[in-house]
Amino acid sequence: MEKILVTGGLGFIGSHTAVALLESGFEVIIIDDLSNASKEVLTGIQTITGVLPEFHQIDLRDKEAVSQFFKAHTDLKYAIHFAASKAVGESVSDPLLYYENNLMGLINLLNPLVSKSSGVIFSSSCTVYGQADQMPITEEAPIKPAESPYGNTKQIGEEILRDTVAAHPQLSVVALRYFNPIGAHESAEIGELPIGVPQNLVPFITQTAIGMRAQLSVWGNDYPTIDGTCIRDYIHVVDLAYAHLAALKRLIQKQQKMPFEVFNVGTGKGSSVLEVIESFERVSGQKLNYRIAERRAGDVIQAYADTTRANEVLGWKAQFTLDDAMRSAWKWEQKVRG
Ligand code: WQD
Repeated sequence: MEKILVTGGLGFIGSHTAVALLESGFEVIIIDDLSNASKEVLTGIQTITGVLPEFHQIDLRDKEAVSQFFKAHTDLKYAIHFAASKAVGESVSDPLLYYENNLMGLINLLNPLVSKSSGVIFSSSCTVYGQADQMPITEEAPIKPAESPYGNTKQIGEEILRDTVAAHPQLSVVALRYFNPIGAHESAEIGELPIGVPQNLVPFITQTAIGMRAQLSVWGNDYPTIDGTCIRDYIHVVDLAYAHLAALKRLIQKQQKMPFEVFNVGTGKGSSVLEVIESFERVSGQKLNYRIAERRAGDVIQAYADTTRANEVLGWKAQFTLDDAMRSAWKWEQKVRG
């Protein structure tokens, strides 16, 4: 079976995708710089799949190290590229870190691949749409000026890929625009491991419930939505992993009509912050301690996906519900911190 490079493969989405690839019979090689992941994740992957993937600690900004890696793996043709910094707030305070890590990393990955028949799946984000004018959001929705350097690196990353496939017809690319990944593998052997105070809603909920955080602040309930809180498309990380598998099979079977394709990856359903809290309380059987606080700068009011293209072209559709995802997130939190 094909050998697949997974960059950032010890991260939240990368590790779940590595499991899905291994379970499908692919050989997986993981590159990770361990800046936002720990090597123990390898053990979690092995526990679930029975396979310990080949691992190399490499910083994709190190062009020489990347070049040496590809010289030692000349048969590598496919890569799923997760490795990037992804904290919106940090990107505002340290933009050069984000432009160097996210863009130089991508460029150093592409250089060894463009001269052979190859395929790359790029981890993009719904953040490229900013506050879209219409819901649900289709892939044709206009790309809005980025709200953060992080979001800008996703937009520029897609442009780099478009230009590169135009110049190098042997390379094919699928960009997956994730909505809000949440949850954990049902085994609770792998999951989300935010470093420090979580910025994202679901890890903050589970850390509050387990007693690590005193109280969840709901950032604003005066938005023009069903209950005043922001709406997002929360997708189970295992569903997201399966979307990468579907995209990879499309690349390998050379079914693409265009060398650069984009797909929204979400559930197609919007949930408010209060609905997520209600889901957590339902699946955990415990009340969550939260307060209504002021709005968070930069939040869009609502964002949820039109997934028609992924459903029809990739033959992929999210299967898990919000309750499934919250149940798995809680099981993971209890395993890691309980
Ligand atoms: C969701 C909702 C918050 C925390 C971010 C990135 C995006 C993508 C997904 C990488 C919002 C509210 C949150 C809290 C809260 N990441 N919230 N209290 O902002 O939609 O997207 O993560 O690709 O690029 O921007 O996700 O989980 O931070 O927030 O009320 O303590 O929860 O205001 O309405 P977001 P989030």
